[in-house]
Amino acid sequence: MSDFTLKIRRYDPESGEPAFWHEYPVDLPPERSVLDGILQIKDREDASLAIRCSCRAAICGSCGVRINGKSALACNTRISDAARRAGPGKPIVVEPMGNMPVLKDLIVDMDAVHWKKIMRVVPWLLPAGEPPEREYTVPAEAMIDVTQSMACIQCGVCVSACLSLEVDPQFVGPAALAKAYRFVGDPRDGQTEERLRDLAEDPHGIYDCTHCFACIEVCPKDVAPMSQIMRLRRRATGDFEIKDSNNGYGHERGFVNIIERWGTLHEAQVLPRSFGEGSFVKGQVKPSAVKQLAETLPTALRGLRSGKVTPKKVIVHPKLPDQARVRKVMHTIESKPRLELNLYIVGDNSGEEQGAMAEGSQEL
Ligand code: SF4
Ligand code: SF4
Ligand code: FES
Repeated sequence: MSDFTLKIRRYDPESGEPAFWHEYPVDLPPERSVLDGILQIKDREDASLAIRCSCRAAICGSCGVRINGKSALACNTRISDAARRAGPGKPIVVEPMGNMPVLKDLIVDMDAVHWKKIMRVVPWLLPAGEPPEREYTVPAEAMIDVTQSMACIQCGVCVSACLSLEVDPQFVGPAALAKAYRFVGDPRDGQTEERLRDLAEDPHGIYDCTHCFACIEVCPKDVAPMSQIMRLRRRATGDFEIKDSNNGYGHERGFVNIIERWGTLHEAQVLPRSFGEGSFVKGQVKPSAVKQLAETLPTALRGLRSGKVTPKKVIVHPKLPDQARVRKVMHTIESKPRLELNLYIVGDNSGEEQGAMAEGSQEL
């Protein structure tokens, strides 16, 4: 047995008192979980301490909390690991999940945020046409593609950790967007383009994610919600060429075109190209692009005044000496539809394209 201390945030709305912290001693073998510690407190010290839990095996998704500031399942976090991360002599800090209203102690209102967002993405299959006489048959690889998002246990831990949600509570969020990919990636669904258009056009949709990786880091089931969001974006831009009013399409094309031309990011061109559907001049003739670009002028002027941006940097951007190799890698990858140009590569990464990538990466 070892001694641990849990410092738990308590809150009871019926008491009329504000939230407060309380420290509790816990006596458990080091391999037991933080949830076991909380349940011991309930058993020995204060039965009124509220937490949701059921399976104690990272299956039901009920026991999401924040432990030492990091969102996690309490049953999936070893108490000795949490104590080590807290630091010598410091208590393990346990508080309710973030981005959701607290109902009592460690229980948050999942209906108000998590489930509402899940419903936003129409979380069921919308097949086209008449159902087949027998079952639907789908290629195995299509199901493998959606297996990762199907692994979600709806614990809300990624929602709790999401930095975009903290800034924009209306963001559809990592769990719901991972769920959206589960249907966008399913060949039986008949509303793929409509789903993608809806989530691309929503100002709080797929382009509201800032790539912070927090959801990937905390997800206990390796759903990697951010990867699913990137897949939604690639389907929206690559497969359906959805030119959304949030300039997501232009931003992606702009990045690709800049790297293809210079090999490194020419920052002064990112904004104009984002508004110009990827091109520096062509898209700018659209009144909406001119208006949006004009609105960014004060920011650009502030950059010039502070010296962060100089006229020379705006105009001149050196090409990489081996730009031809960068272009070769890009073209090789783009010519292979199964290989995704992303950190989370899926598909066949062998043979010719692997050679081109290796050759390019040595030089980059
Ligand atoms: S990567 Fe995107 S969805 Fe995931 S936590 Fe960060 S902002 Fe939220
Ligand atoms: S994606 Fe992961 S962290 Fe988010 S709700 Fe599903 S299982 Fe939990
Ligand atoms: S109690 Fe079920 S996931 Fe933790």
